[in-house]
Amino acid sequence: MKDEKIVLTGIKPTGTPHLGNYVGALKPLVEMAQTQKTFMFIADLHALNAMRDAAQIKQHTYEIAAILMALGLDMNNAVLFRQSDVPDVAMLSTLLTNVTPKGLMDRAHSYKAAKDKGLDVNMGLYTYPILMAADILLYGADEVPVGKDQKQHVEFARDIAGYFNNTYGNVLKLPEPVIGADAGIIPGLDGRKMSKSYDNIIPLMADEDELRKKIMRIITDSALPADAKFHQYSHIRPFQLYKHFGTADDIMNFHEKFIVGGTGYGDLKKELFEKINSVLSPVREKYNRLMNNREEIDVALSDGAIRARLVASETLSRVQTAMLG
Ligand code: ADP
Ligand code: TRP
Repeated sequence: MKDEKIVLTGIKPTGTPHLGNYVGALKPLVEMAQTQKTFMFIADLHALNAMRDAAQIKQHTYEIAAILMALGLDMNNAVLFRQSDVPDVAMLSTLLTNVTPKGLMDRAHSYKAAKDKGLDVNMGLYTYPILMAADILLYGADEVPVGKDQKQHVEFARDIAGYFNNTYGNVLKLPEPVIGADAGIIPGLDGRKMSKSYDNIIPLMADEDELRKKIMRIITDSALPADAKFHQYSHIRPFQLYKHFGTADDIMNFHEKFIVGGTGYGDLKKELFEKINSVLSPVREKYNRLMNNREEIDVALSDGAIRARLVASETLSRVQTAMLG
């Protein structure tokens, strides 16, 4: 058990999870937790630099926890918790500010992007990478699976651990970012990347009616039913969204209908809906049961927090001893 690799990742509760999040992040995480010891937390403290509505943060926190549970997250391997339930992270973050050069924060993509857009930058956003380093270092993570946009932040966590260890000895483990096999970018209703920032999402746990309506509304080109369809131009491409839900045979059949022609986009969309719905409807059933029974989610999250705190307090006390005696 001692030598086992520790994997850790955080998910921000800043929006309702959508099909892109499922394919690109949630599904691979649940699969990974079948074989690996994983710390997985809902990063509510990180949401604060952009969100001011407590009820919304709480709602999205429940949604993410319920989805992970409904997807069958293995709770023996995975420690699932809410970031703010382990206050040690704030203490570690404060301690780490003292070994973090300001220049590192100035170089962070997230801060630079906000500044370039002329947005107001609060100190939560500016020091975001230090809190994220504390998240990672507190649990002795070896590997941190993240999307490409977060790679720099994980590298900063590694740098910060290095600065710390140079001064105080070998106290913190150096983490590595792991960029998963690229699942491809799932397009949204308008064909751009599905993203809450573009308001083009299909919510992962949309009910059957909404799911159907949204899929039927995906923009397509003007090919007629009889035409062969150039699937590289279509936002319902067989190898893009469908492939994450269908079997190899399903995918080939769906692909065939594109290249042969004779099936209109309306029918292709219906088929896409049926496929996605058949995979998601058992998950949705469990999800709805949990969302109507939030005490069950509370119990799971507080159990996760207890397990997380055991590891966190041990790391924090080593850091505190090294810095303050
Ligand atoms: P959003 O763009 O909606 O704000 P986030 O940036 O919060 O989504 O992404 C959370 C996770 O979901 C990341 O790991 C990201 O790679 C993945 N993800 C988000 N949108 C997509 C998409 N359209 N296709 C594939 N993966 C996605
Ligand atoms: N910053 C990540 C994001 O925006 C979320 C996150 C917070 C995280 N703390 C983390 C990811 C620690 C990995 C490890 O998606």
